[in-house]
Amino acid sequence: MDDLKAKYLSQIADAADETGLEDIRIAAVGKKGEVALKMRELGKMTPEERQIAGPALNALKDEINSALSAKKAALADAALDERLRTEWLDVSLPSRPTRTGTIHPISQVSEEVTAIFAEMGFSVAEGPRIDTDWYNFDALNIPGHHPARAEMDTFYMHRAEGDNRPPHVLRTHTSPVQIRSMEASGAPTRIICPGGVYRADYDQTHTPMFHQVEGLAIDKDISMANLKWVLEEFVKSYFEVDGVDLRFRASHFPFTEPSAEVDIRCSWEGGTLKVGEGDDWLEILGSGMVHPKVLQAGGIDPEEWQGFAFGMGIDRIAMLKYGVPDLRAFFDSDLRWLRHYGFSALDVPTLHGGLSR
Ligand code: PHE
Repeated sequence: MDDLKAKYLSQIADAADETGLEDIRIAAVGKKGEVALKMRELGKMTPEERQIAGPALNALKDEINSALSAKKAALADAALDERLRTEWLDVSLPSRPTRTGTIHPISQVSEEVTAIFAEMGFSVAEGPRIDTDWYNFDALNIPGHHPARAEMDTFYMHRAEGDNRPPHVLRTHTSPVQIRSMEASGAPTRIICPGGVYRADYDQTHTPMFHQVEGLAIDKDISMANLKWVLEEFVKSYFEVDGVDLRFRASHFPFTEPSAEVDIRCSWEGGTLKVGEGDDWLEILGSGMVHPKVLQAGGIDPEEWQGFAFGMGIDRIAMLKYGVPDLRAFFDSDLRWLRHYGFSALDVPTLHGGLSR
């Protein structure tokens, strides 16, 4: 018995991990372990022998068991110490001082616009950039033969011969989201939808992909006056000034009646674009009262409801606010430009905290 004890206690002391320890436990005090085998021999002993051997065997078993659990605890402690050592982190280190990335002005302006309209009770809706021509045109009262289809320089998706799914286009404006959100949430409603749109056009103020924010408000008693007020409030908040000259121009869109386009006073002098001064005007949005046929297409009864809608060029108002003279630079991915015009990732625009630095 002394031999058994010495053997197992030294094995336990040497065990390197929990599986090794478990092997030792099974060999020593398991059901078929050496101590159990010895216990079986008790039956063959004389009562006198048994009286000495029995308690001694039990004591041996206890001793091995407690050595096992002590070792197990020691191994667990060592494992924890090792983890603490390797996963150690100095939280008092200063943060990395160099900025490695910036928020793109289009993302920044989308956030600013969203913050302002959220404050006026508008929520954000979304729609697909590839949409059917029904959502992009027909539902907006632009039937197949309408010149507006050609005017918009639409990108049509390729269709294989025999494909009779409805034709799809890269949406030419965010207006299809008007229909989608009328279908989804009915009236009354107040939504904006910022997002990318596509037209085949390319010069200083046009790129084939650009951004709009659609606005739609439907209720029982909404007029052009509400539209005008909302847009004026928006422009004041967005440009963070009290006086910006706006020009409402009577216009025409198939999906609004009456319609107005809004220009903003600016100057391009010396190659820099400045808002609120000069003799030039830059068109920033189209708007009007939602056409009854459009309400109908969205499943809303035009006898009961009316509303206004607008579509504003996010890139245009970004150019104006941040003095970017060429729209194409927005999408060149020139790191020097991005570093110059980008925004800190940590400054989230809010009305109370400030929209921009
Ligand atoms: N969808 C129009 C455009 O892209 C803008 C617009 C939106 C006009 C909503 C009126 C109402 O030019």
